[in-house]
Amino acid sequence: MLNKTFTPFPVLTTKRLTLRQLVPNDEEAIFNLRTDAEINRFLDRKKATSLHDARQFIDTVTKNTENNSAIYWAISFIGKRELIGTICLFCFSDDTNSCEIGYELLTGFQRQGIMQEAVHKVIDHAFHIMGVQKIEAIFHKNNLRSMQLLEKLAFRNRNEPGKKDPNLVCYYLNSPNA
Ligand SMILES: CC(C)(COP(=O)(O)OP(=O)(O)OC[C@H]1O[C@@H](n2cnc3c(N)ncnc32)[C@H](O)[C@@H]1OP(=O)(O)O)[C@@H](O)C(=O)NCCC(=O)NCCS
Repeated sequence: MLNKTFTPFPVLTTKRLTLRQLVPNDEEAIFNLRTDAEINRFLDRKKATSLHDARQFIDTVTKNTENNSAIYWAISFIGKRELIGTICLFCFSDDTNSCEIGYELLTGFQRQGIMQEAVHKVIDHAFHIMGVQKIEAIFHKNNLRSMQLLEKLAFRNRNEPGKKDPNLVCYYLNSPNA
């Protein structure tokens, strides 16, 4: 059984980063993330068109956190409030003790190993605190940056074509406790 209680919110820290709960003040950064063509390039989602969309997104994420159905961290540098990216765990299955991971980083902060540091911490939390046995990441086959990041963290390709979309690939990582 997964330990999926997100209240109080599990704030995580790494050498450079704080992974904290999303707050209404993050709306501009969320808007920037969700309107950036480069970031959206391989993501199948509706593009934000206004700050209202960003606000609604934050409300949805907050509700999901409150009902323990998904968890979404804002990534900031230690000691700063500014959101530079996000990372989330969702699609939890109590049958297989698994979940999916997703992440995105403002382009100005990419290629500094920041996401690697954040994903590493979230994986550790999922496996050792939440009792997750397997984490999956599903992404577009041409999303090489995501693929490289996952491979550096020892995720492996499931080598099966996407069930719904053949352009999607699925990588997975098993818990060392599995
Ligand atoms: C996927 C994504 C988060 C990857 O970001 P990233 O910054 O490339 O990821 P990493 O944190 O792994 O950084 C790796 C790079 O930082 C460099 N780096 C610099 N300092 C580093 C350090 N201290 N530690 C590790 N790497 C470091 C690495 O050499 C590497 O550079 P390279 O790509 O030129 O080889 C980013 O491309 C993104 O936001 N994409 C859009 C959203 C998306 O597609 N999400 C995936 C959906 S599941």
